[in-house]
This record gives sequence, structure tokens and C-alpha cells, in this order.
Amino acid sequence: MKRKNGFLGKDILSVDQFSAEDITFLFRKATLMKKIVKAGKNSKILQGKIMTALFYEPSSRTFGSFISAMQRLGGGIIPLQGMTYSSVAKGETLEDTIRTFECYSDIIVIRHPEVGSAKKAALASTVPIINAGDGVGEHPTQALLDLFTILGKFKKIDGLKVAFVGDLLNGRTVHSLSKLLAKMGKVEFFFVSPKILRMPEDLKDQLKNRVLITEVEKLDDVIKKVNVLYVTRIQKERFSNLSVYERVKNFYIVTKKLMSQAKKDLILMHPLPRVGEISTDVDNDSRSVYLTEQMRNGLSVRMALLAATLGKIK
Ligand code: NCD
Repeated sequence: MKRKNGFLGKDILSVDQFSAEDITFLFRKATLMKKIVKAGKNSKILQGKIMTALFYEPSSRTFGSFISAMQRLGGGIIPLQGMTYSSVAKGETLEDTIRTFECYSDIIVIRHPEVGSAKKAALASTVPIINAGDGVGEHPTQALLDLFTILGKFKKIDGLKVAFVGDLLNGRTVHSLSKLLAKMGKVEFFFVSPKILRMPEDLKDQLKNRVLITEVEKLDDVIKKVNVLYVTRIQKERFSNLSVYERVKNFYIVTKKLMSQAKKDLILMHPLPRVGEISTDVDNDSRSVYLTEQMRNGLSVRMALLAATLGKIK
């Protein structure tokens, strides 16, 4: 059966919008993209298309991989980082900025500190908007690449035990990935965080119907059990009181010693950047995928997503 491109012309705002069929479609295409990149080939399928990357918050990987994805497919880019130096500094509204760039480009990727900003942009825009992180809300394309990475390793989701570690209150990557995993199969979650940084209650309520959840403070309590260890940074920029941040910033450090207790076929993931929560001597452990597979997959998945949204793959 030929699968339909459910991404065509759509805004990509939340993982809630994806069906299992969408994911299967996208990941087939991402696998092809990965082969193109690996073979050192170029494609021209997005020639004549332009993407604006509108980043109001710091970014390296997400920004860089979207730019690379567009260019590897022959498309053009308007890369705008450090939006404080643009017309925003003169008081321009998000809507006006969006209406400007929809005239120049065929798709807009936006990162912004406010929850709901991508949706606001989508309401103002006639071209597709991709949410590259809206404050503590969601980060749907990160969740896609994370799921692609997990499936690449385990082939299926059913039966996996996944530990999310760190700032689960403010980390948008864990918000999106937990929802996406819960939708895709029978998983079990371990939420490992300091008490003040637990997963938001409303999100837990949403997940509880589908997934068994255990909340703990210590990593030692779960390290032996899990298949996926997904570590995140304590999100300093979300703290209004920095002395509270100072108290929790070094709460977790994944060390060689800790990894010696983990399963042999575990994967250790991190959306990056890390600020000390994974010790660098763990980088060469064959189970660490954050600087290798996970990162490479970000490029392939974003290539597939841009091509699908712009209607250049069927
Ligand atoms: C994450 C983000 O921006 O939410 N980074 C990323 O996109 N890979 C995680 C983070 O900043 O901690």
C-alpha cells in the first residue's frame, strides 16, 4: 500500500498531530536521506525553495541541521539567529515578522522562548511553520529524531523501559519525546529528577492512561532496568531564581562507574548541549549515541521533513 504524505503543506507544531502512519512515512524517507548523506551525494529536490530559520533563542544543532538539511537538498536559506539584533529590537511583533518572511520563503522554522509562539506564528502565516522549540513547550522535530534513533537501535518500541533524567519540568525535548513514545507503543517510563523539576502534572495525566510511570530522584534506582537513558540539561534560562539553579545544577552526572551497572545493549541519549551531566569519558562507550547516531539522524529526519512538508517527496 502506498502511504500518503500527511505532512504536505502542514505546520509542524506538536507531536500530538502525528499519526503512526505519518511516522512510518517520514522514517522511510529519512532512511533514504541518510543513505544520500552517507554516500556523499547531493540531491536537488528542494531547488528553488527557500527556508527561513527564525531563531529567537540560542541554538547550534537544531539551527545548523535545518540549514544543512535544506542545503543538502538544493534549497536556499535565510538564516536569522540572534533575533534581538533584527527589527524585533525596534519593537516589531511576531506576526509582522512572520508576514515579512512568508513573502521571501516557502517555509519558516521558528524557535522562540514563549510557549505557543509557533502556533501564533502559524496563525499569521500562509507558508508552513515548523516549531523548533517554543519555550518549555515542545520540540517536535527533536522528538522525531530521537524516536528514529531509538527505533534504529531496537526496531520496535513495545516493551522498552525509558528513563528521562534531569530537568523534566522545563525540558521541552522530554515533553515531546515522552508523548510521541507513548503514542507509538507499549513503553514504560522512569522519570528521574529533583523533586522541584518533575514532569508537569498535566503531561503526566495525559501519559498515565497509556504508560506505566515511576518517578524517582536517584538514577541508581533505575540504571539496571532501563533500555534507553535519556539525559537532559538543567535548563538554567528557565529559572527565575539562580540560587535554586545552583542547588540542582549538578544533581546528575553519568559516569563510567554508573554505566558499568547499565544494560549492555542500552543506549545513552542526550539532545545536547550538555553542561556536565554526562562525563566526557563516557563518550567513547559504544552505548553513547548523543555525539554520533542521534546527531546524524537529526539531519536525515529534518531533510525528510522539509521535503515532505514542501511536497517534494511522495
Ligand atoms: C534542546 C532544546 O533546545 O530544547 N537542544 C536541542 O535542540 N538539541 C535541549 C536543551 O537546550 O537543553
